[in-house]
This record gives sequence, C-alpha cells and structure tokens, in this order.
Amino acid sequence: MVMVGTRRSALVRGSVFLNIVFALYVLLHLSPPRGNSVSPPHGPHDNLTQQGEAGEYSPDSDLDGPLQWASVQERAHPDLHLCSTPQLLPRASFHGNHWVLFNHLTAIEQPACNASVTYTTHADYTYLHNLSPLVERWRGPISVAVFAPGEDFNATLNTIAFLRACRPLVAQFTTFHIFFPVDHLPSSIPKIEDVLVPSCSLPPPSTNGPTYKSSHNLTYPVNVARNVARIAAATYFVLASDVELYPSLNFISRFLALMSTRDASRETKPHRRVYVLPIFEVKSGIRPPATKTSLVRLLRRGAAIPFHKFVCPQCHLVPGLRAWAESGLGETLTVTTVAKRHAPYTRWEPIYVGTNLEPLYEERLSWEGRSDKMTQMYIMCVLDYEFHVLDNAFLVHRPGIKRLRKDRRRDEQTAAQNALLSNTITPELQLIYGTRPHCVL
Ligand SMILES: *[C@@H]1O[C@H](CO)[C@@H](O)[C@H](O)[C@H]1NC(C)=O
Ligand SMILES: *[C@@H]1O[C@H](CO)[C@@H](O)[C@H](O)[C@H]1NC(C)=O
Ligand SMILES: *[C@@H]1O[C@H](CO)[C@@H](O)[C@H](O)[C@H]1NC(C)=O
Ligand SMILES: *[C@@H]1O[C@H](CO)[C@@H](O)[C@H](O)[C@H]1NC(C)=O
Repeated sequence: MVMVGTRRSALVRGSVFLNIVFALYVLLHLSPPRGNSVSPPHGPHDNLTQQGEAGEYSPDSDLDGPLQWASVQERAHPDLHLCSTPQLLPRASFHGNHWVLFNHLTAIEQPACNASVTYTTHADYTYLHNLSPLVERWRGPISVAVFAPGEDFNATLNTIAFLRACRPLVAQFTTFHIFFPVDHLPSSIPKIEDVLVPSCSLPPPSTNGPTYKSSHNLTYPVNVARNVARIAAATYFVLASDVELYPSLNFISRFLALMSTRDASRETKPHRRVYVLPIFEVKSGIRPPATKTSLVRLLRRGAAIPFHKFVCPQCHLVPGLRAWAESGLGETLTVTTVAKRHAPYTRWEPIYVGTNLEPLYEERLSWEGRSDKMTQMYIMCVLDYEFHVLDNAFLVHRPGIKRLRKDRRRDEQTAAQNALLSNTITPELQLIYGTRPHCVL
C-alpha cells in the first residue's frame, strides 16, 4: 500500500480549520430534518448524521408486515442466472466523439457473469497507480477506461505495461479500455506485442511531466469514461466507482451471499434498486482502513470523516449514518437502511452496486464542470429507485482530506456546466422521464 508522509504543521493548521468547518457542518446537517431548531450535540457519534430522516425507513422495524419471506435475488434479480459471460475480445468502436479500444489489454481471469461483481472505473495514466491498492482489496474483475489523447497514448501503454508486468494482481483482474477524442488521435498505435516489457527493478514510468491533456487544455470526459468502463463489464453486477476509492475487504463474496438473505424492501412490488457503499476519507499519513472495525475506530478519533465533508457534504451525506457505524461489525453483509433520494438527500451522489440496466452518465458533462453524476441521480429519483445502504462495506478515498480550493478557471467551467444543466439537459430529462415530487436536479 502506498503511504503518504505525515505533514505535521499542515495537520495542525488543518485541524483548526477543520474544527471551524466541522462546527458549521454540525449546525447545518445534524439538525432535525424538518424542524427549524438546531439540536445541541449529544452522544458519542455526533460526527455522524442521525437516523430517521424523511424518505427512509428501517428494514427491521416491521418484520411482520404483509410480505412473504423472499430473498433479495428472488425479488430483485430473478434474471441473475440467465446472464451470459462475454469473451473479452479487443474491438474498436466509435462512441460520443471518441474512439474506444475496448478490451485493449484483458485480465487473465474472467469469472462467470453471475459469480462476481466488476469494479468499473476510469483514469488517465497519472492515476493508474491506484489500481494496485485497489485490486489488493477487491480481488475480482476491474474494468477501467483510460483517457489517452494524442501522445498520452504512448505513456498510457508504458504505464499499463509496467503494472501488468510488475503487479501480478493487476494483470490477473484488470481489463483496460483506452479511448481518445477523434481530434486528438495518437500518432501511432503499437501492437501490444511490441510494447516493451519493463524491468520491475526499475521505478515505474514517471507520471510527473506535463501531459498531452494538460498542455492542450483538454477537459476530462469523465462520463464517457464511466460509461465505457461500465458497459464493457462482463458481470451482471457492477460497482461504478472512482479509482481513488478503495473498497473494504471481502466485498464480492459477502455481496453475493446477501442475494440469498431476506429482502429489505417492504414494497409489495419489487422496485428498481441499487446497493450503496458509504464513502469516507482519512487524514494524510493514515493507512486507509480495510475493515469496518478499523474504520469505526478512526471515525471515533476524528481521523476519518464522511467523504467530501468539506467540499460537498450534502453530496455524500448517507441516510442513517449514525446507526450505520454501530451495525454490521461481523463477517456478513446486510442492508441497514432503504432510502430514497428525497430531502435532505437531494444532492446525494452515492456510489453503489447496480447492473447495466441503471441509467448511464450524461456524456456532455465534464469532470471540470462538477455535478457530473447529478443527472443520473435525478433520473433514478424520477424512476423511484430504492437505495439499499449496505452495513459492512464501504469505500475509502486515497489518504488526504479534500478541501475547497479557489480555482477561477474551474469555477467558470462549473458555471458553464450548470447553465447547460439547467437550460438544456433538465428540460430534456423532464420530457423523456417526466417529473416526480421530491426529485430535484
Ligand atoms: C451461476 O449460474 C450457473 C448456471 O446458470 C450456476 O450453476 C451457478 O451456481 C451460478 N453461480 C452463482 C455464484 O450463482
Ligand atoms: C513510446 O514510449 C517508448 C518507451 O518509453 C519510447 O521508446 C518511444 O519512443 C515512445 N514513442 C513515441 C512515439 O513517443
Ligand atoms: C491553455 O490555457 C492557457 C491559459 O488559459 C493558455 O495560455 C494557453 O494558450 C492554452 N493552450 C492551448 C493549447 O490552448
Ligand atoms: C469528531 O471529530 C473531531 C475532529 O473533527 C474529533 O476531535 C472528535 O473526537 C470526533 N468525535 C467523535 C465522537 O467521533
């Protein structure tokens, strides 16, 4: 695992700031959802949100309701056994103004489509080193779309060749798709056999120099990347995530075991649903926790916090987080809460396990313009999705707590993207999907 060095003075300065922001956060987010009064902090878990907000109910509170016993799979995934496992063959395809080289380098191991979950993600070559700690924990198929415009293509191939040669788990489990805009083609595409196999005693290829992407001021087509990685997954279940989010251990087997347990949804007709993994971040210098027990210990010390607490707290505010911290410390996985994306979670952008039937990501949105997952979440709200929050599973960001930094250029891109969202995309989505009370974009 890559460890980040401690920067003590930055931490001290950071913690003063952290306390101020934390106080504001408590005032804003721990107050009762519908009341106007602010509740004083109480109890040992005040860094976590409280349970019992609107649009949420506990699956355990009414076990003698009208529903017959039915497993998660029977109610929600009766087609799991009907899935077919595709062969991972290289193919090129034109997709949203980009050429995509699907399955350009494939994993050695490909499980049956009903026997695993694919972690789908995306990166440019400067982020690919994250695959190593990621696969250490995931130990299952990973589908990654790599953005490689112009001469970044060569650096991308060199980086992938290093990882495949020197990080055996990456070679075993990761399938790489490479894509580039049609107006930023690489000058040549070497045959895979011709890419030099690097020496593992040398350091990995440098990713410090300027990239083609940065020197050409290209934006990152994050949603093209997300879609490419997701549609290329060869399993029924997919976890569409970001490459710096490392999963807790033993996820895949526990998740598949969850399929034969009692369904948590109390709806009489099965609803569309996905399974949410809460996300956390840890201070730099702290080893990202791999089990819930160690995560909860760090949360109590304040060394771990909910993801993006200082950047966009409402984007990752998890329903019932306080109860979540007290549940699921064993070996199994269950659903703690079934939530909808209603107030106060109208900005929620959870990361979840779903299937390839879930809405795709809006490809007109760039990473730089922010809010890039909001359209998908809005559609899921209008389609009345249930969000089943998993108790004994989580994601933790590569160490270092993210804070808002002033960035004029990015603020301009955000303003332009917000205008595109409200003037163009929102009316389209309302036309196509209709509207539903409590759903906002
Ligand atoms: C996957 O499906 C096959 C046949 O369709 C079945 O034999 C196998 O037990 C299934 N595996 C899992 C993990 O559900
Ligand atoms: C691509 O990378 C290899 C290995 O570093 C290098 O030898 C080669 O010259 C590069 N090709 C181009 C077109 O930059
Ligand atoms: C990239 O942006 C910078 C600053 O906005 C500008 O000076 C530069 O000319 C741009 N480069 C290209 C290739 O557009
Ligand atoms: C809450 O977080 C602060 C720092 O943000 C920490 O000092 C405190 O111990 C934490 N309290 C609990 C109960 O987790």
